[in-house]
Amino acid sequence: MHSSSADEPTAREEWLQQRGQQALDRFDSKTPVIYQKPIELNQDVHDWIAGWGGDSLFLTGPIGVGKTHTAWQTCRRWLEAWYAPNRPWSGGPDLRTYRSTTLFDALRPDGPDEIRRTLVKELQECNLLFIDDLAAAKASEWTQERLFEIFDERYINRRPVITTCDVLPTQLSEVTGPRVSSRLAEMCGASVVLLDGHDRRTGAAA
Ligand SMILES: Nc1ncnc2c1ncn2[C@@H]1O[C@H](COP(=O)(O)OP(=O)(O)OP(=O)(O)O)[C@@H](O)[C@H]1O
Ligand SMILES: [Mg+2]
Repeated sequence: MHSSSADEPTAREEWLQQRGQQALDRFDSKTPVIYQKPIELNQDVHDWIAGWGGDSLFLTGPIGVGKTHTAWQTCRRWLEAWYAPNRPWSGGPDLRTYRSTTLFDALRPDGPDEIRRTLVKELQECNLLFIDDLAAAKASEWTQERLFEIFDERYINRRPVITTCDVLPTQLSEVTGPRVSSRLAEMCGASVVLLDGHDRRTGAAA
């Protein structure tokens, strides 16, 4: 006869474990190849993951220090944490990842209104939004307005954003417009993490 022991996973734990593994497999398959490698994360990033909730995370620093790699691996840890047995289940996680240039393109006024409106709504509501290299391209006035719609909704509902960028949130005004940079500064609060060091691509000082 089968007897259960305290060490055996419960049905809920097994279900979470399986669902979590499927979500991680899907995430890994869409992660760019070089960012799939596990890396040591900065202590401030560990702290953000441990206490994650409404706060956003802003990773800044010079070229090649590892901002994007850190962000992808942080998203992965966030996903793992979603399926932790002690976390109350609130449905499958919706995690969106975007390069800023791709995002700005998708928000342009020349595409179909319906598709753009759906995208804005999805980015307002997803559980975690990661935008890579936010200062890489200047947003037009139109795009700044769409960014405002996305960030304001996330700001008032305390939905987190992970941003990588080579300047500070307060210096983003030129790119995103002042209303977005002001909100982002408050959303990140103490979780503005400076990654310092050399350009890992060349081995030269950044
Ligand atoms: N902690 C780490 N350990 C080992 N390799 C790393 C680490 N972080 C990043 N790398 C590697 O260093 C290189 C640069 O990393 P990444 O692309 O994340 O830099 P970045 O700061 O985003 O640069 P950029 O400002 O140009 O976007 C990549 O090859 C990446 O895989
Ligand atoms: Mg990068």
